[in-house]
Amino acid sequence: MALVPYDDTHLWGMQKLHKPSSVYSFANHTIQIKQNWKQLGVAAVVWDAAVVLCTYLEMGDIDLRGHSAIELGAGTGLLGMVAALLGAHVTITDRKVALAFLESNVQANLPVDIQPRAVVKELTWGQNLTGFSAGEYDFVLGADIVYLEETFLDLLQTLDHLCSDHTVILLSCRLRYERDQNFLAMLKRSFSVHEVYYDSDKDIHIFKAQRDNRKGDL
Ligand SMILES: C[S@@+](CC[C@H](N)C(=O)[O-])C[C@H]1O[C@@H](n2cnc3c(N)ncnc32)[C@H](O)[C@@H]1O
Repeated sequence: MALVPYDDTHLWGMQKLHKPSSVYSFANHTIQIKQNWKQLGVAAVVWDAAVVLCTYLEMGDIDLRGHSAIELGAGTGLLGMVAALLGAHVTITDRKVALAFLESNVQANLPVDIQPRAVVKELTWGQNLTGFSAGEYDFVLGADIVYLEETFLDLLQTLDHLCSDHTVILLSCRLRYERDQNFLAMLKRSFSVHEVYYDSDKDIHIFKAQRDNRKGDL
């Protein structure tokens, strides 16, 4: 099992993960993200998958205005913040250990009038899901959260819990290992899954998934 979600072909990209900050421009806002690989590892740096999904959301095929969204495994929260800037009401989640860092990035970047549209909350996949109602969210967002095989069942259980028939899941991933494809195969047992975007420069796929009740009957 890889402890970090990268492989040798992308080691050049590791340099930027070790910088203390990174700056982005989305939704007419400059977002300066604090990073701290040494303190928190994968949860405290911005991954390409987040940047690509932010770019996709900004392209406007998906209208987030007035809709509810939840981000899983948010890390620094870039994606959730961009969703809020684009008009969504977002619950930005991660494991307890990552929350204070996440919260500080959100507070430092979201303008005060947007802050009420973004809530930071603990969500460890598969745990205490009753705190999150099924059908509460129009969108479930996840960037680079498919990488630890031992979390796949918990992540699937979380998606299953959060999604009603109308919920749209958007997952951005670099498919590094065979197990990542296995996750997609597992997801397809309950959800219709389609690739909606591929960034060939960054080698990031975006998948859109929606519950397919016919599959539950199989
Ligand atoms: C590769 S990082 C991606 C972070 C962010 N989404 C991004 O793309 O910049 C994976 C994230 O998943 C979170 N994560 C890992 N296992 C988790 C679990 N069991 N429950 C909730 N979050 C988890 C980590 O804390 C981390 O923030």
